[in-house]
Amino acid sequence: MRRHKLALCEEHYLEWFPAQVERAISKYHMFDREQRVLVAVSGGKDSLSLWDVLMQLGYQADGIYVDLGIDGGFGYSKLSFAKIEAFLAGRPAARLHVVDVLAEYGETLPQAARRKLRGRDKPCAVCGLIKRHEMNRIACEHGYDVLATGHNLDDEAAVLLSNVLYWQIGYLARQSPVLAAQDGLARKVKPLCRLYEREVAAYALLRGIDYIYEECPYVTGSTTLFYKEMLNRLEANSPGAKLQFYVHFLRARKEGFLGAQAAQVPLTPCPNCGQPTSVPGLCAFCRLWQPRDSRENDR
Ligand code: AMP
Ligand code: FES
Ligand code: ZN
Repeated sequence: MRRHKLALCEEHYLEWFPAQVERAISKYHMFDREQRVLVAVSGGKDSLSLWDVLMQLGYQADGIYVDLGIDGGFGYSKLSFAKIEAFLAGRPAARLHVVDVLAEYGETLPQAARRKLRGRDKPCAVCGLIKRHEMNRIACEHGYDVLATGHNLDDEAAVLLSNVLYWQIGYLARQSPVLAAQDGLARKVKPLCRLYEREVAAYALLRGIDYIYEECPYVTGSTTLFYKEMLNRLEANSPGAKLQFYVHFLRARKEGFLGAQAAQVPLTPCPNCGQPTSVPGLCAFCRLWQPRDSRENDR
């Protein structure tokens, strides 16, 4: 690990990695061992490694998988779920919640996105909307104290770069390893936010975690991938650049760099599902499933 000027053997890497996660959990006051954590698992290396490490560290961690019904010619969602099931086979104490979007709402993500966007855009924004809503719903319905995602440093640095390039002050204000709970919104944390993607991959490999290698079929050509490549080039030239970029942003924000912009937007409960929304009337998730006629009336 060039950024730490450190090289570790298998045994010591498997001590180092959980210690780094523990450090982030306590540094950002994410949660403690008395609290119940819901880990959002996608079948990828980050979220499965996170779940594994939290259980190893003795946290009460259950999982949630949102089955979006994405096929992409190779059964992306089914394959992702198969990886999670394989992970669970060796961990009988672990509990998983599964939300099947097709069974629950009558359409898969690609179907709903096609209808909503009329094929003009990729379904990623609708996907994010569904995942956020359903993860929050399960976290609140089952009384979890916190919802944890597997976002790593590469993810966070790429989002930061994008937010900075367009000076998205509102997004910058909310880009944090911890988002406090609000009425109807679960607390959200990202315990891997200071670990490089390749460090997480190394952990998964050494722990024998089999994960889905394929990316979501809609991700190709995304700007996030482009930003990740740019940051990798920067990192290759000056090791540690990615981490510095991210942690110095967190420090600057803490010191008031964003000023009053960090104030929260006022939220009201959606009359249908009860989850908080910044727009009057139905939330974006509930509007997604409305029949066209009532959507017109809703406007
Ligand atoms: P992504 O947005 O695909 O980069 O994923 C970021 C994080 O969101 C992952 O590390 C998971 O914690 C979570 N996540 C992504 N997809 C799913 C899913 N289908 N079900 C549950 N959690 C997910
Ligand atoms: Fe949601 Fe790719 S995972 S569109
Ligand atoms: Zn709603």
